[in-house]
Amino acid sequence: MKKKATVLVSGGAGYIGSHTAVELIAAGYDVVIADNLSNSDRTAVEGVRAITGVDVPFVEVDCCDRAAFRKVFEAYDFDSVIHFAASKAVGESVRMPLEYYRNNLTSLMNVIDLMRESGRSNIVFSSSCTVYGEPEKQPVTERTPRKPATSPYGNTKQMCEDILRDSIAAYDGLKGIALRYFNPIGAHPSALIGEQPRGVPQNLVPYITQTAAGIRECLSVFGDDYPTPDGSCIRDYIDVVDLAKAHVAAIARMIEDRNAERYEIFNIGTGRGVSVLELVRRFEQVNGLKLRYKIAPRREGDIVAIWADPTRANEELGWHAERSLDETLAAAWAWERRVREA
Ligand code: UD1
Repeated sequence: MKKKATVLVSGGAGYIGSHTAVELIAAGYDVVIADNLSNSDRTAVEGVRAITGVDVPFVEVDCCDRAAFRKVFEAYDFDSVIHFAASKAVGESVRMPLEYYRNNLTSLMNVIDLMRESGRSNIVFSSSCTVYGEPEKQPVTERTPRKPATSPYGNTKQMCEDILRDSIAAYDGLKGIALRYFNPIGAHPSALIGEQPRGVPQNLVPYITQTAAGIRECLSVFGDDYPTPDGSCIRDYIDVVDLAKAHVAAIARMIEDRNAERYEIFNIGTGRGVSVLELVRRFEQVNGLKLRYKIAPRREGDIVAIWADPTRANEELGWHAERSLDETLAAAWAWERRVREA
């Protein structure tokens, strides 16, 4: 295959970053991974190399350390950056707001600054559906108004979107796409990379797979008295490999489509809302097991329901969610079992 451009993937040892590195390489791009390993593991880089058969360059660096990060910009020839590197735990951000503001805002500002300084053009930013808060109408489009953030983490996503928008408006030669992820789940079908939460998982699917593996005693379903058909919360669960491919489409659009706006936002979801209880049942069915779970009180800060209208990404990026929920839940379980065997 003809080689395309080179892409710097910051946070490329993380969950979404590692899957994106794989899909970029599969699409013919060269990749450089930069990661400070603060919430990720070198084994993810090994996984990317094993899946692709490419000795992907990896630099251990903190994007907040501008002098050290500048060296990556000097050492490698790339025109595009996908910036994943950020802290992402909602509860932790409430306890440690300054760490979240410092890390998430500084790293993005450094990326933009270094891009500008060295004449790099294209940036994809990891945003989140959390910017919509509790929406009045479902599904949400990119024109649905943002609501005031309910956590420092959510606030950093909003502030980073604004920093990117304003920088692109001010600096010629810079183009950007913010992808608003819904709930990423699952793992690569090879089971060589996947989600590796440290400590007790805060997110639903890692908690489910660890419960199935016997590491957690029982899943707590947070609330069954919400105004939804079965009383549990509704989310739009997007397969991580599908999500990774959306980044490839975003990079291609910035490189190839001269008519595109310089700053664009896309929802990346399936367009389908699934309740917590439905997800638990599907997990049991597709993997042929029983999960211990109990109904627990609502979790503070949770919204009732959100799912995406992904039409803009479908039409403009030519991207669609392809993997079924069953495939995704089977992959999540295969990954968990492999981690336990290793
Ligand atoms: C949250 C953030 C999102 C962030 C993501 C990753 C919000 C609104 N969303 O998503 O921006 O990117 O975390 O950290 O802040 N649940 C249980 N039992 C559990 C765990 C979860 O019932 O043990 C339920 C939750 O109540 C929720 C659903 O499962 O309804 C999904 O939860 P989770 O995986 O934590 O994701 P979000 O809270 O939607």
